Amino acid sequence: DKGNHRHFMAKEIHEQPEVVGRTLSHYVDLANGRVALPEPLPFDFAKLSRLSITACGTAYYAGLVARYWFESIARLPVEIDVASEARYREAPLERDGLTLVISQSGETADTLASLRYAKSQGQHTLSVVNVPTSTIARESSAVLPTLAGPEIGVASTKAFSCQLTVLLCLAIHAGRARGVLSAERERALIDALITVPGLMAEALTREAEIEGLAREVSKARDVLYLGRGTSYPMALEGALKLKEISYIHAEGYAAGELKHGPIALIDESVPVIVIAPHDAVFEKTVSNMQEVAARGGRIVLIGDAKGAAEHGLDTLATVTMPALDATVAPIVYAVPIQQLAYHTAVFMGKDVDQPRNLAKSVTVE
Ligand code: F6R
Repeated sequence: DKGNHRHFMAKEIHEQPEVVGRTLSHYVDLANGRVALPEPLPFDFAKLSRLSITACGTAYYAGLVARYWFESIARLPVEIDVASEARYREAPLERDGLTLVISQSGETADTLASLRYAKSQGQHTLSVVNVPTSTIARESSAVLPTLAGPEIGVASTKAFSCQLTVLLCLAIHAGRARGVLSAERERALIDALITVPGLMAEALTREAEIEGLAREVSKARDVLYLGRGTSYPMALEGALKLKEISYIHAEGYAAGELKHGPIALIDESVPVIVIAPHDAVFEKTVSNMQEVAARGGRIVLIGDAKGAAEHGLDTLATVTMPALDATVAPIVYAVPIQQLAYHTAVFMGKDVDQPRNLAKSVTVE
């Protein structure tokens, strides 16, 4: 049932404040301002020397965001790869180490195969899944469910934001277990996390602006997404969302990589979507925006009022997100990224819930 929405994807985008809130209440002890996992884990984060993450598609991008969190919050080295490579690389995995797999469906063939590979190496396995009865959930040593509810649209939206929510909670748990996260910092992170559903609701109110912008984007043959830090995987996710439902060629790049090649593509025909909350690396991203502007590139900034007031460049548009704690930015910024892809595809008359050549659950390799 799509409710009063035209597509499942629209409904699922709009459900995010609610399902992220539900997921949060499953992982956060609000009274004490700390993360409380629903079940004890059968391994100790303090004993791990690294974390291996594997997943496919959007779930892989959630893992890429989580890498920044595990490294900065829990000081835990992370290696991450797409499951279709991880399963064949013959990577040496330490006995009693940890492999984390992320999957909405819990049935993705390559992700399941990398989980089995990790087990064969004597690793603990932890899965973040949306379908608790799935094969991946059943075969993992521990499961952290996302409480997104059934996701029908082929393009993953609410499952992604719920994955990010669980992964940030897990990074906080790991930081405490490893003795590198003070109770004070944990409380500050929890304070930021609990504002997220409200901030997502606020982000959703930018829809009319994004719809207008989608008309411009729909005319492009190529679109570039740029971001730094956790906004880099968000750029990859933005490009994936746009290409899979609108069929416009889109690429996501680390903003700092621009001058190592993709800058050659920049001209007035290529919209450049810059994802940049006013965080610790904002100024660095502004210098990349200057490089784009100097070559006639048309910039769309997905950022906040503070950043917009600071950069001083001509842009095609700014999508203004609420001010927030930079750590939680990816969860909130998922909203405009999804809406831009959605409205571009709808404007072009594409079947957003059933894009060509794609299946919701990829059970063959
Ligand atoms: C993109 C998308 C896919 C999935 C990928 C993994 O919007 O939906 O990239 O994220 O096929 O699927 P799961 O999470 O079910 O393992």
